[in-house]
Amino acid sequence: MSHITILGIESSCDDTSAAVIRDGYLLSNVVSSQKIHEAYGGVVPELASRAHEQNIIPVVDQALKKAGISKKELSSVAFTRGPGLMGSLLVGTSFAKGFARSLNIPLVDVNHLQGHILAHFIQVEGEDHQFPKFPYLCLLVSGGNSQIVLVRSYNDMEIIGQTIDDAAGEAFDKCAKVMGLPYPGGPVVDKLAKLGNPQAFKFSKPHIPKYDYSFSGLKTSFLYRLRDEVALNPNFIEQNKESLCASLQATVVDVLMDKLRKASKALGIKEVALSGGVSANTGLRTAFADHAKRYEWTIHIPKFAYTTDNAAMITMTGYFKYQDGLFASMDVAPYSRVTL
Ligand code: KG4
Repeated sequence: MSHITILGIESSCDDTSAAVIRDGYLLSNVVSSQKIHEAYGGVVPELASRAHEQNIIPVVDQALKKAGISKKELSSVAFTRGPGLMGSLLVGTSFAKGFARSLNIPLVDVNHLQGHILAHFIQVEGEDHQFPKFPYLCLLVSGGNSQIVLVRSYNDMEIIGQTIDDAAGEAFDKCAKVMGLPYPGGPVVDKLAKLGNPQAFKFSKPHIPKYDYSFSGLKTSFLYRLRDEVALNPNFIEQNKESLCASLQATVVDVLMDKLRKASKALGIKEVALSGGVSANTGLRTAFADHAKRYEWTIHIPKFAYTTDNAAMITMTGYFKYQDGLFASMDVAPYSRVTL
């Protein structure tokens, strides 16, 4: 039997990553995270592209070695086409094209968001896996996205609700910055929230129709509350950090779950998955578990390694697209902004 062996490349933001999947099983997933941005409090696009250029060959080399696969065994090269930072995407795209061309194998372009959604299908031989059943709802929450996606099959999905302004991760990061916490703020807020009272502070929740989200009002409400309190007591933030984090987290989680519950009820779908960087959030994971019990949802939460940017999810998506014959032509170019 001939194998389907895919090499996948991810370079949309500040992680350079390569993975190998053979016949649906993950053989390797190498991620090189760029530490350089921490000093700047956010990703610096120019530095990110440069680091990708430096990292890409060693990362691919390592992924192939770890997988025990030689270049000649590859069936296809998959890569992240977008959304993401243009300079970063160009590095992965150009590398993938050159590599596929030199091996005379087809190229598969992958939408990064589809990758996050199909991360639930990554499997490692010998490990137990419970895949979502179609159709399922996926809450995709990251630094750049907050959306509810109706997933009908691997290559057929539709956004039914999304943020009209900031993403959930952005709300965590921006509010954390106001409190003087380090970047990225999401994980720090999560950690401090465990020590605070989630009922201590009330922040405004959006009132927008259907399944859409909005987080810019929350950010403003948080900022104004802190400004007013600090005017009265300069030590307010330091004295209330834990409860501010707990209350912020509880508000974000409530907003996210309210719309997801509404969508699940209206569409009659109880198969519900969580994807993206913010899915690491403890409060959100607990809310998912509570909903599973209360509303008889079957929930799917990916392993931590597959929630942040990684090539395993890009390669998995590439594998499904390859099987459906969805190839890219050699004149394909990346796109920085794109939806599903
Ligand atoms: O998917 P991702 O790695 O990349 C982007 O889309 O940027 O998501 C990163 C986002 C950041 O906003 C980060 O603060 C947030 O996910 N994040 C968290 C947690 N871990 C990461 N937010 C809340 N709680 C966490 N534990």
